Amino acid sequence: MTERIVKLPNASATQKLGMDLGKSLTAGSVLLLTGDLGSGKTTLVQGLALGMRIVDLIVSPTFTIINEYFSGRLPLYHLDLYRLTEAEVDDLHLECYWLGLETEPGIVAIEWAERLSYLPDDYLRIELTYDPVEGRIAKISD
Ligand SMILES: Nc1ncnc2c1ncn2[C@@H]1O[C@H](COP(=O)(O)OP(=O)(O)OP(=O)(O)O)[C@@H](O)[C@H]1O
Ligand SMILES: [Mg+2]
Repeated sequence: MTERIVKLPNASATQKLGMDLGKSLTAGSVLLLTGDLGSGKTTLVQGLALGMRIVDLIVSPTFTIINEYFSGRLPLYHLDLYRLTEAEVDDLHLECYWLGLETEPGIVAIEWAERLSYLPDDYLRIELTYDPVEGRIAKISD
């Protein structure tokens, strides 16, 4: 596992981190996003979508659970598990997304990924936290 830390002094920095990933990640990549309410998970996915050249407006899937976007260089599957229990998450069979079963392979970005009881073999974990010295930071590990 490697870990790197990126400082996020403002919302644009969070968006830029997402945008860089959106330019470089390949089909089948899974981003596990963790961090408190309002820590910037959706903001990061908005940047991700820009980097993937998605033209749609990215809105939080807190109530819809899954939003799918097909206008970019790859499909983006944006999930928010906040309102679900672990059993409900199991029922969604999210592995279909990362295994590409009945879905076109794309990038899967999961907010509140701590609700997942099963993980893909490969993923990038992005933990958005507040450090008393550095301020907002992202810890990225794979
Ligand atoms: N690095 C940052 N510094 C300051 N403000 C930020 C930063 N990143 C995001 N924000 C702001 O924080 C607010 C909440 O962001 P966002 O909705 O992305 O959080 P979230 O983690 O998705 O929240 P939720 O847990 O409700 O899904 C927004 O107003 C956003 O612009
Ligand atoms: Mg959100």
